[in-house]
Amino acid sequence: MAQRVRGVVAPGRNEPVRVETIIIPDPGPGEAVVKVQACGVCHTDLHYKQGGINDEFPFLLGHEAAGIVESVGDGVTEVAPGDFVVLNWRAVCGQCRACLRGRPWYCFNTHNAKQKMTLEDGTELSPALGIGAFADKTLVAAGQCTKVDPAAKPEVAGLLGCGVMAGIGAAINTGGVTRGDSVAVIGCGGVGGASIMGARLAGARRIIAVDIDQRKLDKALELGATHTVNSKETDAVEAIRELTGGFGADVVVEAVGRPETYEQAFYARDLAGTVVLVGVPTPEMRLELPLLEVFGRGGALKSSWYGDCLPSRDFPMLIDLYLQGRLDLGAFVTETIGIDGIEAAFAKMHHGDVLRSVVIL
Ligand SMILES: NC(=O)c1ccc[n+]([C@@H]2O[C@H](COP(=O)([O-])OP(=O)(O)OC[C@H]3O[C@@H](n4cnc5c(N)ncnc54)[C@H](O)[C@@H]3O)[C@@H](O)[C@H]2O)c1
Ligand SMILES: [Zn+2]
Ligand SMILES: [Zn+2]
Repeated sequence: MAQRVRGVVAPGRNEPVRVETIIIPDPGPGEAVVKVQACGVCHTDLHYKQGGINDEFPFLLGHEAAGIVESVGDGVTEVAPGDFVVLNWRAVCGQCRACLRGRPWYCFNTHNAKQKMTLEDGTELSPALGIGAFADKTLVAAGQCTKVDPAAKPEVAGLLGCGVMAGIGAAINTGGVTRGDSVAVIGCGGVGGASIMGARLAGARRIIAVDIDQRKLDKALELGATHTVNSKETDAVEAIRELTGGFGADVVVEAVGRPETYEQAFYARDLAGTVVLVGVPTPEMRLELPLLEVFGRGGALKSSWYGDCLPSRDFPMLIDLYLQGRLDLGAFVTETIGIDGIEAAFAKMHHGDVLRSVVIL
């Protein structure tokens, strides 16, 4: 029987979000209903509310979540009621050209639930990133549920569902950071901070954190940065070169999503080095670079979608490292809040006061 639960809805462009009663259908074939325990507040939720992603209002916000599978539909074998899961927005199809080439982390045809969650009057909701987890329960495709060790705290585990995975993966999966590398990370919010942690995990010998906010740089040192550069006061490119014997870093992660920081990343890497763009730009942004420099510097200019992660491979592994005390994922949880605290959390995020606010349900 369909259930009525609380959910956070963005009704229209730039309108304040509201806690509404929403209707969750029983899971159909290939679907699962998940009792959400915790869900982080990500920049992308704010982008949805502002109409920056698309116009398919009303949105059911929230997508960095962990919870317990409550029920599953016909044909679901990968998860069962009672499983502790992290929700992902990359339920790979196994059949598209990327999957068939053995690169499922690029899957071009990822799954979401087929049925719609609605408001009480029947209005269909668009769940953020096909998840919609600022809600007591949500309906997803079963492949969006990744089982992890239930010993992990939900407010920590859920963060792997988006920003923290994107950041760790940008360094390790996309950037290929390995032992001995020098790495610079431009923009040290939740995503860049996770890139710093990923670079440390992979054995980078030098990790340079760059930001314009001193609080983020102080935090970056806790997350594993070996050096910091306040690019409000210092030229980021020169500073990174100075800290790398005059050459530049082997891998530079851009976690802001702006042309000027991308340009810094481009010039702050060593010859044959790698730039990873994980920050998301807006449609009007443009970049101009001398083509001869693009050629002459060699190496790789890459973008990182969701940290090129494969949830089934990466989430359980990172949770294990966290439980063993080898990856301090808890450092990203600045505060836990209630379901009615989302607007306040957006304001704190806007002012740079938090890495992550996490809603406990
Ligand atoms: N590629 C993906 O799959 C993926 C997934 C999640 C988020 N993202 C994107 O990653 C980016 C970062 O997300 P976040 O949650 O860490 O955001 P955030 O707001 O927490 O962090 C951004 C950081 O960049 C810093 N910054 C801003 N302007 C800067 C500048 N000119 N120079 C240096 N630092 C600057 C800010 O001080 C802040 O610390 C966003 O664009 C977000 O949309 C990408
Ligand atoms: Zn696919
Ligand atoms: Zn997100």
